[in-house]
Amino acid sequence: MRTQVGIIGAGPAGLLLSHLLHLRGISSVVLEKRSRDYVERRVRAGVLEQGTVDTLVEAGVGERMLREGLPHHGIELRYGGAGHRIPFEKLVPGRAITVYGQQEVVKDLIAARLAAGGDVRFEVEDVAVHGLDPASGSGPYLTFGGERLDCDVIAGCDGFHGVSRPSIPEGVLSIFEREYPFAWLGILAKVAPSSEELIYTRTERGFALHSMRSPTVSRFYLQVPADAREEDWPDERIWAELKVRLESVPGFTLATGEIMEKGVTPMRAFVTEPMQYGRLYLAGDAAHIVPPTGAKGLNLAVADVRVLTEALAAYFADGSTALLDGYSEACLKRVWRAQHFSWWMTTLLHTFEDDDPYARRLQLSYLDYVTSSEAAATTLAENYVGLP
Ligand code: APR
Ligand code: PHB
Repeated sequence: MRTQVGIIGAGPAGLLLSHLLHLRGISSVVLEKRSRDYVERRVRAGVLEQGTVDTLVEAGVGERMLREGLPHHGIELRYGGAGHRIPFEKLVPGRAITVYGQQEVVKDLIAARLAAGGDVRFEVEDVAVHGLDPASGSGPYLTFGGERLDCDVIAGCDGFHGVSRPSIPEGVLSIFEREYPFAWLGILAKVAPSSEELIYTRTERGFALHSMRSPTVSRFYLQVPADAREEDWPDERIWAELKVRLESVPGFTLATGEIMEKGVTPMRAFVTEPMQYGRLYLAGDAAHIVPPTGAKGLNLAVADVRVLTEALAAYFADGSTALLDGYSEACLKRVWRAQHFSWWMTTLLHTFEDDDPYARRLQLSYLDYVTSSEAAATTLAENYVGLP
């Protein structure tokens, strides 16, 4: 078998890349380890930047998102007994975010790929990358389940735990990473949101986030110890802790309901440089991950794919490699801005065990600054809605 672009992974990065390439007349095959049902049900974050929304609409996969997604024009920072709104409409006019679950984006992309006759294969075992070394003479190809797929280019969109990054020879990549000493426990609950906007809360007991998915479904996160297990957190304990942390301003009552999904996410940051080797290009979580406090993971994946699509379109049009050669450099500027923003939001809002009273005062002082200075609030707002 042969295709122009062999894509590993059917997350948002791989599926969107396949679809954008199709719109440019470029063929691809997507190889996904998990089942379609599994990837469509996997609950992840759900904040889309304006640029992400625009990309999905332009690609013709934004119809349901525009109908069911929830546009937001601000967020609340809650700490010290009060809530403070960061008003996007005032600070970054014309820019907003849309709350729409990542697995809904994935469902829409899979439906669009299949409707267009796209080749997306699920439950594909033992995908392996070959022929990356330009000296190998064979050109890049993928093997899986006894088959071979020759490609002009391979896109590694297989997430943090995928096979594409480890197939790059030792010594080529520089890795930058940070592990945070805590995790997030996330839940999806059958209950109307208790707030119209997202609430990011800092308390002495740790961080909490109130988000939502629809008028009847809410999403919450709690800062928990890094070694927390789901078993440690029966539903009653989760609601009790969410209540203590979120009911920290007068007059706010948290509505509770049936918990439909529960999961612990480690908090870490990771960047690989460069994001390419030979004719293999990494995109999304395969190349970088951020702690979710800034809601940047999915948006970075979409941004990578936009850059890669342009580079591949130029390459397949006339063989020019300038954009492909500059792919990594073009992506890494945005990647590092998002790394910094995600670190900043995380540091601002979480409790760190080894923080002394001085460090905690600094944190509160910074929060006061962000919620009282227009310049500081604009820094948060323009990064949150997404830089151009
Ligand atoms: N072979 C085939 N597929 C694989 C392999 C493999 N060896 N390893 C992983 N995969 C698949 C995973 O099952 C997953 O469906 O690759 C896909 C990667 O998708 P994501 O993890 O969703 O990564 P990405 O598409 O880059 O999207 C980034 O996902 O983790 C969130 O916060 C992150 O929102 C961001 C988004
Ligand atoms: C979510 O709704 O899942 C969500 C929202 C904001 C974040 C992270 C996750 O910062």
